[in-house]
Amino acid sequence: NGLNALAKTQGKLYLGTATDNPELTDTAYTTILDNNMMFGQLTPANSMKWDATEPEPGTFTFTEGDQIADLAQTNGQLLRGHNCVWYNQLPSWVTSTTWNATGLTAAIERHVSTVVGHYKGIPSSSDQLPTQANLPFQSPDAWDVVNEPFNDDGTFRSDVFYDTLGESYITIALNAARAADPNAKLYINDYNIEGTGVKSTAMQNLIQSLKAAGTPIDGVGIESHLIVGEVPTTMQENLEAITALGVEVAITELDIRMTLPETAALLEQQKSDYQTVISTCMAVEKCVGMTLWDFTDKYSWVPSTFSGQGDACPWDENLVRKPAYDGIVAGLQS
Ligand code: G3I
Repeated sequence: NGLNALAKTQGKLYLGTATDNPELTDTAYTTILDNNMMFGQLTPANSMKWDATEPEPGTFTFTEGDQIADLAQTNGQLLRGHNCVWYNQLPSWVTSTTWNATGLTAAIERHVSTVVGHYKGIPSSSDQLPTQANLPFQSPDAWDVVNEPFNDDGTFRSDVFYDTLGESYITIALNAARAADPNAKLYINDYNIEGTGVKSTAMQNLIQSLKAAGTPIDGVGIESHLIVGEVPTTMQENLEAITALGVEVAITELDIRMTLPETAALLEQQKSDYQTVISTCMAVEKCVGMTLWDFTDKYSWVPSTFSGQGDACPWDENLVRKPAYDGIVAGLQS
């Protein structure tokens, strides 16, 4: 009994959650997190990012990422690698170097191949968990290889990678990831691509051009950091358009925030919105799974980023289930 058990019964690979190392000392939290009937998949919110894994050039630290991978293995949960190449949370040596194309290509290849290679292993599958008794940790089934490459207007984001290498940085990263772990599904992950619009169109154009060039790409991560009352009505149509290109999709970072203070009406709307998003994934054959961007308001990233907003998760700050939890259940049953 639990969200993941229901998701699997209904034909999806998993329902999972983000988590982060500092939270793992909170036993009231981990009691819920560790139950693989509730959560069948974990995404490390921070500890596999570039600043965490390669703080100095060529010096890699995996201690915190390994802690999450170990936990997934212990719990019999899938693991999503997050992430390889992103404009944010980069160590200063990446952002402050004046790169030429050759140097940055080599830096990307070293980073991606070392991190993805570190976590590579025997592929797990949802009905054979855990499969990796010979490994100290769960290997990712999927990696967010490239994270958030687009601006909201559908142009490529200006960052150290794009400004130095143009779109080719995406191909460089995907090729390095495929070579390092041929069994992991390789994703590009972004936000504000839940509904149709210029940003989703840009993502679809990118996927088409990567496929035409023979570049390895398996999926598009639909982050889904949404606002109560504002779930795009075109979400199913949009996900169908993306999967029609020959890639899978996953809901990778779902939360639905509100302007505080919370009211009963907002909580009911939030319940309905969670149901809508989950039922949309259920209705799209190649939407493989759903991940909450942490399950409790106690550890949500939202309030520190959006002043005056919050309460975005299905469990409240006291780890009590909100109406949104029942919305997820209803969505999974649809
Ligand atoms: O590690 C430092 C710590 O040393 C310091 O004491 C502390 C003081 O504030 O900050 C710590 O770093 C924080 C880091 O999380 C680890 O806790 C950063 O300030 C904080 O900005 C960072 O936030 C993360 C955010 O990404 C950064 O962009 C959130 O936890 C994480 O949930 C969030 O996740 C992103 C996804 O990766 C990509 N999609 C959007 C999503 C939400 O922003």
